[in-house]
Amino acid sequence: MDIRQVANRNKYDLAASSYDLIAFMLSLGQARKLYEEVAQNLDIPADGTVVEFGCGPASVVPSLLRVIDDSAKIIGIDFSQQMIAIANRKKAANGWHNVQFECMDMYDFSPAQKVDAVVFCLALTAMPDYQKALDHALSILKPGGQLLIVDSIPLHFKWYHPLTNAYIYLKSLVVGAKPVAEIFEYIDQKTIAVEKKTMALGVYTLIKSRTPQ
Ligand SMILES: C[S@@+](CC[C@H](N)C(=O)[O-])C[C@H]1O[C@@H](n2cnc3c(N)ncnc32)[C@H](O)[C@@H]1O
Repeated sequence: MDIRQVANRNKYDLAASSYDLIAFMLSLGQARKLYEEVAQNLDIPADGTVVEFGCGPASVVPSLLRVIDDSAKIIGIDFSQQMIAIANRKKAANGWHNVQFECMDMYDFSPAQKVDAVVFCLALTAMPDYQKALDHALSILKPGGQLLIVDSIPLHFKWYHPLTNAYIYLKSLVVGAKPVAEIFEYIDQKTIAVEKKTMALGVYTLIKSRTPQ
């Protein structure tokens, strides 16, 4: 495990109550926009199921609920008890009848039926092993299911990317992430119909793709 990711679960427990503020600041005010972007790119059937790994305190859920059908379902998974406690409080306060949160390591989540989409929002680089995390996500997706990721991943095709990469690296020290460019290659190898969109000068990239049919 990378040194930046040691004791992550305790750190997320401690950060849970102020997570939304921390996310707002570290994303340079972009967090809401990122959540909306995830939602706008989500593609599931009317009665489909989307799983969000590393859902935190349900920060993305309100945006997802705005785009899915009332009969579709959201399952949020997070290994931090404090994050899930906040997520469940939001669920109760807002009457989210089609949302379920589970406190567990994402690798232990195995749904009875394969799902239509898996989302990692600001969460993939928080996982100690991105290959293992992606393999697990792909294993629970239906053929043709959607993989949707937003994260800070180093880029190398614009003149200013060394600057954005420096910010990504500094941020990783604070949040305990491991941002590596190899994530792109792995997704290209394992999935099809890969599309990428950079945001905030490349500090964030949205990746969407599908499992082979
Ligand atoms: C940066 S937060 C992202 C929260 C939210 N998705 C967002 O976009 O703001 C990353 C989350 O991933 C969770 N996480 C990290 N590793 C995990 C694992 N192996 N299984 C489940 N959750 C994990 C952390 O507890 C944390 O809540």
